[in-house]
Amino acid sequence: MTRRAPLGGTDLEISTLVFGSMGRSRQDARTRARVLDAAIDAGLTSIDTAPLYDFGDVESFLGRALDGRRERVELLSKVGLRWDDDHGEVLFATEVGGRRRTVRRDSRPHAIRRDVEESLERLRTDHLDLCQIHHPDRRVPLEDALGELDRLREEGKIRHIGVSNVEPQELETGLASLADAAPGRGLASLQLHYSLLERHAEAELLPLAEAAGIGVLAYTPLEGGALSTRFLEDARWRGARAEFDPLFAPPNRALLVEAITQHLAPIARELDLAVSSVALAWVLAQPRVTAPIVGASSEAQVAENAAAWDAGLSADAISAIGSAFAALPIDRHPGDTLATRARGKLRRLRERVARLRRRGGR
Ligand SMILES: NC(=O)c1ccc[n+]([C@@H]2O[C@H](COP(=O)([O-])OP(=O)(O)OC[C@H]3O[C@@H](n4cnc5c(N)ncnc54)[C@H](OP(=O)(O)O)[C@@H]3O)[C@@H](O)[C@H]2O)c1
Repeated sequence: MTRRAPLGGTDLEISTLVFGSMGRSRQDARTRARVLDAAIDAGLTSIDTAPLYDFGDVESFLGRALDGRRERVELLSKVGLRWDDDHGEVLFATEVGGRRRTVRRDSRPHAIRRDVEESLERLRTDHLDLCQIHHPDRRVPLEDALGELDRLREEGKIRHIGVSNVEPQELETGLASLADAAPGRGLASLQLHYSLLERHAEAELLPLAEAAGIGVLAYTPLEGGALSTRFLEDARWRGARAEFDPLFAPPNRALLVEAITQHLAPIARELDLAVSSVALAWVLAQPRVTAPIVGASSEAQVAENAAAWDAGLSADAISAIGSAFAALPIDRHPGDTLATRARGKLRRLRERVARLRRRGGR
């Protein structure tokens, strides 16, 4: 499996397993530094981060840890979320160290510029290799936000532009707004949630990204560690995601244990791999994914994740695992009523029809 690849049609080469730096403040600085070093040494030289991660602390940690060896890595960061002013639509609120933090979308051009400048300072660098809009701000035209990123690129502060957590229609807008850029300077990438247990992107976003020839970065490929043997070893295991992700609700847990036992563990045994390596190798093997972004809290996890590169899953195994997990009746929205979900489905259907009509009219 190739370990490096260009990001979409750009001249930026990334590692095809990207190291995810989110949420590491639970660990002491020395452990974090050792895990980061292990990832870089194993070949995960592309590092995904964001101002939001531990409210600036993750970028500051990376800046210190990478001082003097910036050129060994590719830094992929983000813009468009703030927690320190009261402008913008609320994305979520949380309590950290007894302090209430409210995270808001803010993609106004001056806010985007401020985000990039602050990231550069925290990361102790003069450029980001990729700068992605973290979550679109529906109060600001996406074109305006991307226009500011384009100016920052002209100034050499970022090399490439990406989007994350967009709806299909927003991806189309993003692609169109940078369509006149020079070759290799259009929209470079799409970051989205994709794993054996999260396949929504297959309907529209992945086909759109493929048709446009942009890179796809798949986050949360192990579902925060759920796609491993943890549930089998400890039925009460609660990862960081368990606090907010209904995937970890009890009825889903039983389904997961069964699926892992029946469909991942036998292949892992046969190939002498960890279950997590097989789950990650499945994402890595998807032709429309450029790179999964995977986190790790130990050097052993980094090694298991890097082993996905050499997993050697057969085409039959890839297809069998994919079908088995797609068929799982996992309910990721147990709090929703049938009516809310039906309305959501109808809205997505309407958007799809509108898009097809527009395409037909071109
Ligand atoms: N654009 C976005 O909105 C967005 C959203 C989410 C994530 N991301 C990016 O994607 C990255 C990864 O996402 P994620 O952390 O949510 O999900 P993930 O990569 O699926 O899960 C990472 C967690 O899984 C556990 N793990 C890792 N390797 C393992 C192994 N070999 N065996 C068993 N458990 C293992 C660890 O949990 P423990 O820490 O409990 O050991 C680790 O922290 C983030 O760091 C971030 O860069 C982006």
